[in-house]
Amino acid sequence: MTLSSVRSICCIGAGYVGGPTMAVIADRCPDLHVTVVDLNEQRIAAWNDSDLSKLPVYEPGLDAVVERARGRNLSFSTAVDEAIAAADMVFISVNTPTKTKGLGAGQASDLRWVEACARQVAKVATAHTIVVEKSTLPVRTAQAIKEILASAQGEGSDGRTFSVLSNPEFLAEGTAISDLEGPDRVLIGGEDAAAIDALAAVYAHWVPQEKILRTNLWSSELSKLTANAFLAQRISSINSIAAFCEATGADVREVARAIGTDSRIGPKFLQAGPGFGGSCFQKDILNLVYLCRHFGLPEVADYWESVVTLNTWQQHRISRLVVQKLFGTVTGKRLAVLGFAFKADTNDTREAPAIRICRDLLEEGAQLAIHDPKVETDQIARDLHLEASAVPDPNAGPSRAALSGEGTWWKTDDVASTVSGADAVLILTEWKQYRQLDWQALAPLLRQPAWIFDARSVVDPAAVATAGLQLWRVGDGGDPITR
Ligand code: UDX
Ligand code: UDX
Repeated sequence: MTLSSVRSICCIGAGYVGGPTMAVIADRCPDLHVTVVDLNEQRIAAWNDSDLSKLPVYEPGLDAVVERARGRNLSFSTAVDEAIAAADMVFISVNTPTKTKGLGAGQASDLRWVEACARQVAKVATAHTIVVEKSTLPVRTAQAIKEILASAQGEGSDGRTFSVLSNPEFLAEGTAISDLEGPDRVLIGGEDAAAIDALAAVYAHWVPQEKILRTNLWSSELSKLTANAFLAQRISSINSIAAFCEATGADVREVARAIGTDSRIGPKFLQAGPGFGGSCFQKDILNLVYLCRHFGLPEVADYWESVVTLNTWQQHRISRLVVQKLFGTVTGKRLAVLGFAFKADTNDTREAPAIRICRDLLEEGAQLAIHDPKVETDQIARDLHLEASAVPDPNAGPSRAALSGEGTWWKTDDVASTVSGADAVLILTEWKQYRQLDWQALAPLLRQPAWIFDARSVVDPAAVATAGLQLWRVGDGGDPITR
């Protein structure tokens, strides 16, 4: 096959990765036809909604890209078979969650969706089809895909042939569009040079050649897991130092700045906080851990597993210290939670630190008023395994649940009503609007003595102190002289 023969792309999986990635490819390659398919009808309907604020994925700049390309050379559909049959290149971008049962439960990736996709491609593809792994997969998954596809080649296959490539995604949510439009690198792993060239030609529409790295299949798969493991490890490392700063009177922001100016270390991913969340870090590290154990490397497995252990510990540490500072009990107390998404500029809550922290506090019997500019109430209910309660009447006394020590939560629409009557405010996501809060105006709404727990270093400590509020800030050991 020749380069010019890639005319039509199909992407299976219209999620946080597949949707934005295909929108940018369609936008940058007007000569290509891009169809994104998904089993989830509601999701596809949302991608097709004429109201761009209803797109299923919130990502700054995504609406403009979709607006330009949709209906021109970008479409969203549930007709999976037709789209595969019409495509010369099929991206697999379906979810690969951590297995919850059976062999490797809690660590290995559940590949059933990926396998199902490969079988579907094997069944309905026509002519030569390049299959691209976009989902993050354990090393050597491409082999499984290849074997499934190989069984569909040969006699009686109407000349169908397949090539498998690995093209891991390095976009971060919240900055997906700029990451896709100006990537640090694009990684293409494979054995078939013509297929690699064909995919490289797609990216060459906007990515400089020197940023398109070619590797073998396994190196490409492993690079994705390794990149996420290294990034997550930095966060666990700085969070461990944050706890140490709190114990000794140092300030983790100063430490991060000091070590980040060492060009060998660099300033990125040194922001201490409530621990990492998101769909990738934990899943990919656990996957790496599982593979290391499988290949007889228990020490390597333990080493990487500790990155996840420290992350969980950091979240429990924060909920524990909230309880401690509030005189050892939060039962029946109202706490304001600002931010539920795993980071700012996304509506994604997968593995969000807020989930574990809120669950711990609900377990302690707290009443949580939760605010997030983009996360829906239903999503929070699913994450907390608890339905929302009615918003309490500010003039009524404590609710029955509060009196009986049961944890409850409700969602609020604005910061003032969130903090009203609260004993403490927890800032768990670094939304821009939380950086600009007027603490002088908010302080009278809180029940005194009130605490601010700033897990994201967004508040100005002086402003909080002037407003008469007490502050805990991640990694802030305070002034050693007055301690
Ligand atoms: C997922 C993985 O988590 C990540 O590791 C990988 O790199 C890319 O895919 P994401 O796009 O964030 O990331 O997942 P999600 O938003 O859940 O999207 C997956 C989509 O695939 C869902 O919309 C789901 O309905 C769809 N899907 C899943 C199918 O269309 N067919 C299937 O068989 C399974
Ligand atoms: C990550 C990787 O960055 C991306 O390359 C990969 O393809 C998918 O996984 P994402 O999960 O979208 O992307 O977000 P990222 O910006 O990496 O943040 C992950 C988590 O780490 C968030 O909860 C964030 O708040 C936290 N984080 C990040 C910190 O706590 N401190 C930091 O310095 C950076």
